[in-house]
Amino acid sequence: MSGQKIVLGISGGIAAYKTPELVRLLKKRGAEVQAVLTRSAKEFVTETTLQAVSGSPVRENLWDKEAEAAMGHIELARWADLVLIAPATAEIMSRLALGAAPDLLTTLCLATEAPIVVAPAMNHIMWADSGVQDNCRVLKQRDIRILGPAVGDQACGESGPGRMVEPEDIVAAIMGPKAVPDVSALAGKVVMITAGPTREAIDPVRYISNRSSGKMGYAIAAAARDAGAKVLLVSGPVNIVPPAAVETIFTESAKEMFAAVHDRLTEVDVFIGAAAVADYHSASVQTHKLKKSESDLSLDLSRTPDILASVAGQQDRPFTVGFAAETQNLREYALGKLKEKNLDMIVANLVGANQGFEKDRNSVEVFWQDGEKVFPDSDKKVLGRQLVKIIGEQYKSIQDAQTVQIQPAISGGD
Ligand SMILES: Cc1cc2nc3c(=O)[nH]c(=O)nc-3n(C[C@H](O)[C@H](O)[C@H](O)COP(=O)(O)O)c2cc1C
Repeated sequence: MSGQKIVLGISGGIAAYKTPELVRLLKKRGAEVQAVLTRSAKEFVTETTLQAVSGSPVRENLWDKEAEAAMGHIELARWADLVLIAPATAEIMSRLALGAAPDLLTTLCLATEAPIVVAPAMNHIMWADSGVQDNCRVLKQRDIRILGPAVGDQACGESGPGRMVEPEDIVAAIMGPKAVPDVSALAGKVVMITAGPTREAIDPVRYISNRSSGKMGYAIAAAARDAGAKVLLVSGPVNIVPPAAVETIFTESAKEMFAAVHDRLTEVDVFIGAAAVADYHSASVQTHKLKKSESDLSLDLSRTPDILASVAGQQDRPFTVGFAAETQNLREYALGKLKEKNLDMIVANLVGANQGFEKDRNSVEVFWQDGEKVFPDSDKKVLGRQLVKIIGEQYKSIQDAQTVQIQPAISGGD
């Protein structure tokens, strides 16, 4: 991707403040970046900053006499290998959908043959507006790629779909995976990751769940994507945004997660079960809200399906990695689970008082048949990359061992 020429169109949304970082990441991956601002964008990010990080003067004015002496807008449209508009306001999406060209950015969008990608960012009610959604459909019909928006907290203090996809995820989505030689064993492979908790309903308003935030599984999903894998993320209910360019399947109960995993399992080369799946569910889910009474209440619980064991028990099973969250005897329980469930690897972590769940950092110990490794306390994103690296290495060593076993049969048939 080195040398890719990107016109970065920045329109007047609050997320424009993230664009200097976006430029920096694109440049780091070897792209040449030409920033083009709308007039409103200048209210949110300075030309000086963008010029400093991109290394070239920012363009904004269609009526720039010097640039237009050489038909600057057409030149820019031809120069671009890709036009990326981030953030894309509701307004600029409407101008693009109309085919209107009142400014430099929209004019060059009409004049370019390069692919156009837009990353919308706006208040979630604006995003849901039928006019915005209609425009979005029109853009998609014209092969303009819409990236996001992501779901989460917004500058307006509300929460919902409308956040600009994070700069690092935009880069991953448009420039493909980072070349990470150490994990090349996963490149081109299908990696399925489960993440987050499950919710087991008691009645229409109550459920049994656990403290898993999904951060570890989501970090592994992003790292596997960056290692070149096609990632299927099967997520329980969490409050974090899925990584871009990762197919995410949302589920709620253990039963739903089980079904979602098995629905796609034949595609999968490597399965990583990072979800904290409930072991029990309420034996009978009440149709109506349980009423409070003076007496105590007992719940009958039944076992949920064991997703990890069922994956590892398949005849033609993927390379299977489990997680063990324990509050004591970590090593003993983890090794027991590795053997009992016939896993290829197990990632064990201590959870409890201020550790593991809901935190941004974690420390784990990884076990496999003839080895183990400790990963000391670090940010879950860093840990995700380290885990993907070691999973890639073990996956490769098993693949290599199988190839060696098959070899004599092949040469015998020559
Ligand atoms: C403080 C502030 C924040 C805004 N944030 C957004 C936003 O995030 N998304 C959006 O679509 N419009 C937002 N707007 C409205 C746009 O700036 C406005 O529609 C403008 O005309 C967009 O012009 P442009 O698309 O040419 O940049 C915001 C306006 C203000 C005053």
